[in-house]
This record gives sequence, C-alpha cells and structure tokens, in this order.
Amino acid sequence: MADTKKSATLTIDGKNYELPVLSPTAGPDVIDIRKLYAQADVFTYDPGFTSTASCDSTITFIDGDKGELLHRGYPIDQLAEKSHFLEVAYLLLYGELPSADQLEDFESRVTMHTMLHEQMVNFFRGFRRDAHPMAVMVGVVGAMSAFYHDSTDISDPWQREVASIRLIAKMPTIAAWAYKYHIGQPFVYPKNDLDYASNFLRMCFSVPAEEYVVNPILSRAMDRIFTLHADHEQNASTSTVRLASSSGANPFACIAAGVACLWGPAHGGANQACLEMLREIGSVDRIPEFIERAKDKNDPFRLMGFGHRVYKNFDPRAKVMKQSADEVLDLLGVENNPTLQVAKELERIALEDPYFKEKKLYPNVDFYSGIILDAMGFPTSMFTPIFALARTVGWISQWKEMIADPQMKIGRPRQLYVGETARDYVDVEDR
Ligand code: SDX
Repeated sequence: MADTKKSATLTIDGKNYELPVLSPTAGPDVIDIRKLYAQADVFTYDPGFTSTASCDSTITFIDGDKGELLHRGYPIDQLAEKSHFLEVAYLLLYGELPSADQLEDFESRVTMHTMLHEQMVNFFRGFRRDAHPMAVMVGVVGAMSAFYHDSTDISDPWQREVASIRLIAKMPTIAAWAYKYHIGQPFVYPKNDLDYASNFLRMCFSVPAEEYVVNPILSRAMDRIFTLHADHEQNASTSTVRLASSSGANPFACIAAGVACLWGPAHGGANQACLEMLREIGSVDRIPEFIERAKDKNDPFRLMGFGHRVYKNFDPRAKVMKQSADEVLDLLGVENNPTLQVAKELERIALEDPYFKEKKLYPNVDFYSGIILDAMGFPTSMFTPIFALARTVGWISQWKEMIADPQMKIGRPRQLYVGETARDYVDVEDR
C-alpha cells in the first residue's frame, strides 16, 4: 500500500480540510478524497477521469511523458522481444515471471480449456452472417455465464481461477469461430499440439479441404501482437470490467462488458478505423488533405491510430508494432505495401506538424497493428476481436486484483446536477 506521510490542504468558504496524499512506487502522488464528501459536503468533478485514480494496482504502470509501459515492472519492449504471450499472461495474472515448470503447467491448463461447450455453437448460428464479429463476441462471451456455472461464484478463489483460465483459453476459439461464421466456413476446433497463437491462426485460416501448415513468421507476429495488447492500466474497457465486477456480477458477464466497451472507435475499434482511414487516403499525395481535416475543429474527422489520453510521447507499443510491420511484410514478400507507405509518410508528416506537436499526438498501438493483421489475411472486422482476445488477460488480471482487494466496494460515482429543481406535476389539460 502507498505511504501517506504528506497531506494537501483544501480551503472552502474559509474552512481548511486536510487530505492525505498517497505516494506510489512510480507515477504522480494521489490525493485521497474518500472522506471529502463526508467532511466538506462537496464532490470532485472529473468527466472522463482525466485526473482521477480509480484504484490502486500493482499490474501495469504507464509513464505517458516518457512513453514507458511496464508490466509488473518489466518494460514492454523487452517482453515483446524476449517473452511470449502466455508467459506475459502468467506474469500479469500472478505477478512474477514463471519458472519453466510453472510455465509448462500454466500453458497446459490453458490448452485443456480451449474447446467450447458444443451447445454454444447454436449461439453463433443465431446471428446474421453479416453480423460484425464483435457483436458475436459480446453475445457469446456473455453467454458463457449460462454454460460454466461451476466458475461463476466470485467468492470462491478456485472458481475465480477456473473462470480466468477458461476465458483466456476460449477467447481465441470464440474469435476464430465468429470469423468462420462470418465468412460461411465450417468451425475449426483447437488442436492441443499447437501453441496459443498458432492454434488461433489455424482455427481462422484452415479449411477441411486441405492441410494447414502454420507459418512460423505469422505465428510469432501474432503472438507479439497479443503481447502488445495484453494490458494497459485503467483504460476504458478495463475500467468497465472493474465497475461491472464491483457489483459482484460473474466474470463472463463482466468480460462481455469489457468487449462491448473496447468496440468503440475511440478505443479498441481504432485499429479497424485506422486501416480503413489509411485505405481511404490511398496515396501519399492525399495525406495533406487529411492532415488538414484532422486539424479542422469543424470537421469531426480524427487521425485514427493517433493520440492517447496518457501517452504524450510515443506509445512504446507502436514502436514495436512498427518494427514488426517492417519485418512481417518483408518476410512475407509484401514489398512496398501501399498502406504501409501511406502510414509511414502520414506519421512523418504529422510528427512534423505544429498542431500534432503542440497537442503531443503520436501514433498509438492501433496505428500499425492493422497493417500487419491485413498482411496476415485478416479482414478489418477481425482487428478489434483480436484486440479483445489479447486484452482478456489484462481484464482478468485487473478483475482478480480488485476482487481480492479487501477495500473493494461497489463503484458508484456521483454527479454535478444541472437539471430542474423540484416542481409540481401539471395535468395535461393545463400544459
Ligand atoms: C486505445 O486508454 C488506453 O490505454 C487505450 C489503449 C489501450 O491499450 O487500452 O491504449 C487503446 O484505445 C488507443 C487509442 C485508440 N483511439 C484512436 O486512435 C482514436 C483517435 N484518437 C482520439 O480519438 C484521441 O486521441 C483519444 C480518444 C485516443 C484520446 O482522447 P483524449 O485523451 O480525450 O484527448 P482529446 O480528445 O481531449 O484530444 C486532445 C486534443 C483535442 O483538441 P482540442 O479540443 O484540445 O483543441 O487533441 C485533439 C483533440 O481534437 N486530438 C486529435 C486526435 N486526438 C486528439 N486531433 C486529431 N486527430 C486525433 N487522432
């Protein structure tokens, strides 16, 4: 727990209120206002939570000014280069890098939960073929509550553990089947002799008519994309999962809420929107037109994949993703990918533009990810489901941390009410 040697003094109507200041292991101090309303009969006001800490956490730390992202203290660029997704998942869930035996046991437990209850196939078939895969994921993940009753009691640590493993293990199958259903191909079942990323690629791209051999370049790139999306502090979808979970709702329903929130174009939906934007730009010579639109206050257009609430420097994930895009496209022989050329030139021009410099807008995790996923053969509609698949371990880790926190209570924000004060009902004949 943070130490509380310092305090802040708030003066309201000539009266002073002492508020404890909590000092973290990294990042800004936090003014503890939990008793403010009781003491001073006032609320604080922070729509969008730009200056509000909603919890304490030991999982992920972001320094937006330095462009630093740590998972349990380990820098994301080191994890992306030296680790792999299920090892990072273990780190996020349990707090330390696993021994070889711990990792083998964890990967085995995940592998043994990758299949879905066979009756869940009926949920997929209830959707229109042209349903967005995220709509399917929201529905099917929520429906897991109806099938896995033996892991919905959040007061039981063992059930919490089983639900965690089930969600991490089954998200690739759900995402892959949402894709297969969307394109009218038969579902492909997971294979236990494949690693996590290879299994997902095979479930997405293999067909019964021929053998599917996993391309190691693609599975390494897929695994790295999963790692780069695993967790990111108290972002909108993670905060959604925490708030939903604070009522005691079961983990499957809460993760479904996280999937729903992630779908928005300002959040996880940006990877799809970004590639569609790059395609709309189409060529380098049209970039200035779009830069001007992004700067125009009267134009709702924004450069998708640019900007971030926390990063006011490069998103370290974007740097790794950019390197990976170069490697994967080169290894795949996708020379001079026009979309990648537009992205690189757009980034160069934007980073030199005074507007973007002044507002500290840099490429974020969504700027390059879509280029790699597109080169791997995924349609843009699958970009956010892949983000949701990877972020599930972050949502689950944050969920476990909150549920185990003795301070945990239901989240219930207040408001600045600016509506009508009390008034009497008026009969319709008198209106
Ligand atoms: C993710 O929180 C997380 O950690 C999220 C995430 C994760 O891993 O969970 O990192 C994943 O969601 C990444 C972000 C993906 N979204 C996009 O790429 C969509 C485009 N970006 C923006 O919509 C925006 O930058 C946000 C939503 C990401 C951040 O918005 P903020 O923090 O609320 O900032 P803002 O909207 O107040 O913008 C500040 C200023 C504004 O101008 P002014 O009103 O001050 O004049 O910068 C401008 C904005 O108009 N601005 C942009 C811009 N982003 C912000 N102008 C043009 N293009 C952009 N992309």
